[in-house]
Amino acid sequence: MTHSPPGTLGIDFGTSNSAVSWAAPGGAARLIALEDEALAMPTAVFYNSEDLRTHFGRDAVAQYLEGTEGRLMRSLKSLLGSPLLLETTEVNHRQVSFQDIIATFLATLRERAAQSLGSAPTRVVMGRPVHFVDDDPARDALAQASLQQAAQSVGFEQVSFQLEPIAAALDYERRLKQESTVLVVDVGGGTSDFTVVRLGPQRMRQPDRREDVLATSGVHVGGTDFDQKLSLDLVMPLLGYGHLGPQGREVPSRVFFDLSTWHLIHWLYQPRALAQAQALWTNYAQPALHRRLMQVLQARLGHHLAHDVEQAKIRCSESNSEAALDLAYVEAGLHTAMTAADIEDHLQALLARTVACACECVQAAGLAPQALDAIYLTGGSSALRPFQTALQAAFAGVPLMEGDLFGGVALGLAYSR
Ligand SMILES: Nc1ncnc2c1ncn2[C@@H]1O[C@H](COP(=O)(O)OP(=O)(O)OP(=O)(O)O)[C@@H](O)[C@H]1O
Ligand SMILES: [Mg+2]
Repeated sequence: MTHSPPGTLGIDFGTSNSAVSWAAPGGAARLIALEDEALAMPTAVFYNSEDLRTHFGRDAVAQYLEGTEGRLMRSLKSLLGSPLLLETTEVNHRQVSFQDIIATFLATLRERAAQSLGSAPTRVVMGRPVHFVDDDPARDALAQASLQQAAQSVGFEQVSFQLEPIAAALDYERRLKQESTVLVVDVGGGTSDFTVVRLGPQRMRQPDRREDVLATSGVHVGGTDFDQKLSLDLVMPLLGYGHLGPQGREVPSRVFFDLSTWHLIHWLYQPRALAQAQALWTNYAQPALHRRLMQVLQARLGHHLAHDVEQAKIRCSESNSEAALDLAYVEAGLHTAMTAADIEDHLQALLARTVACACECVQAAGLAPQALDAIYLTGGSSALRPFQTALQAAFAGVPLMEGDLFGGVALGLAYSR
């Protein structure tokens, strides 16, 4: 039997990115480098059908985008709690379930942690969103059980769970000098979670922190939903979404929804789905738009397109100016652009739902918005400018503190023990 190092491993298995941290007993948590120096890595698996190997993280995404033959899997966390999880799919002449793919990814995180620590840890605290699945406790419980099973199957003997926003709060708390009531906001790829917590240097020493959690709320809205909406509103119309056909009826929209949803894209490449898309031509008054749709499906450009929309969103959000989208790989000369105003307009309803969920959380804690000492932001999508503007409007005068967008949850998990 291998010797397992004493301490706690924290795994933040995210919809878009994952991070791993380690804390020796009584020591400070540190993030473990997962891909060269990078402390977070895309939750992505690529089954390369040229070298027949399985690739992970940035390597997986890069290989896929370079056009290497194979299958890319992302947004795996979105499948937890869904019947699709146990469905099998063929990769490199093997049938694997999505549950197996999640296990393969966790095995890689464990191996990389073992490389850094000298031996493989057997105890892990995993993060979980407040809700894996909204309004369905049975499926939510199933989601956690499936993740636990995947972790156990790769050698973690003791698996426990901690709410992601509570983990984020534990990391923040270490930097506080005085007692504070804080709204922790974690807007990631798949979910937005909110927690009102009492934090402070004195409280940190308490072993059981349940009393300090005043309220939690969560909604299944995150960066991948923003990407889907932006794709539908700004890019899919170029392929015929919302386009009126010869009879004055819209082209059936299903294909465009699937094409804008990362984990559904590959189903569109199945022969039956391709035939259905081909048959849509009768619904188009402008055949050129249908030709673009078929080019995207036949040349398997769906993930490329989705990736470009996400990158444009990030560029636009960071620079607060227009981001160009060059779509020449779909049709010579085709291009469009995304502006900061587009993001604000098209995401308004989703952002309003997210901010409403934050307000509910504070209300459930029995507090007036102004009673908060701070709002602590974590998760990649919390950087989205119109989100911060909307949040600031709802909590006027409360300071917004930006935390570690990609590593904060993992660090806190290792402190959870
Ligand atoms: N500067 C930015 N502005 C807006 N969005 C961003 C920015 N940087 C990253 N994102 C988005 O953040 C999301 C990833 O965030 P994060 O890594 O926190 O999510 P996750 O932990 O994988 O997801 P979840 O916690 O929901 O499971 C992606 O949707 C990405 O597009
Ligand atoms: Mg997260």
